[in-house]
Amino acid sequence: MQKIFLIGFMGSGKTHWGRQLSKKLQLPFFDLDSVVVETEKKSITEIFSQNGEEFFRYKEKEVMEELVSDHEKFILSCGGGTPCFFNNIAFMKKNGKVIWLNTSVDVLKERLLKERMSRPLIKAIGDTELKNYIVRKLGERRMYYEQANIIVDEEKASLDSLIELLSNE
Ligand code: S3P
Repeated sequence: MQKIFLIGFMGSGKTHWGRQLSKKLQLPFFDLDSVVVETEKKSITEIFSQNGEEFFRYKEKEVMEELVSDHEKFILSCGGGTPCFFNNIAFMKKNGKVIWLNTSVDVLKERLLKERMSRPLIKAIGDTELKNYIVRKLGERRMYYEQANIIVDEEKASLDSLIELLSNE
């Protein structure tokens, strides 16, 4: 249980569960978006608008690779798209254990409605279209998320159940 990667859609709880796991397991915690923001000295929204998504995808891959080589152990909360670009999912599995926080579309929608403005991919999407967007995007991404070592029904998850799943891996 050295390097743990949390993956899942925007709003699936990656940062929340990442922090909890890091406290309980006494492992350093990183949030990939936050490390990209620190490295680039720009918000995610600014990176998308000034440099474009392709640049962002390249940076998130580069930052993840640096974290993996610089640290022996960690909990890393990835961005929602991280496992779906380059060969990132294979890289994560080669270097540690990957957990997919599988959260239902309705719960994702409720959470994302509240914090849409800080997320460049969805800030221009209207309330009524948000659900369709999530269904479509999750459909495209599922094939990557499903490659995780551990798949968790996020709404039923508890810290103890996550730790038990990890120790059985
Ligand atoms: C993205 C999710 C975001 C962030 C960026 C792109 C995505 O991370 O990396 O806005 O493609 O789903 P969170 O899932 O942490 O919001």
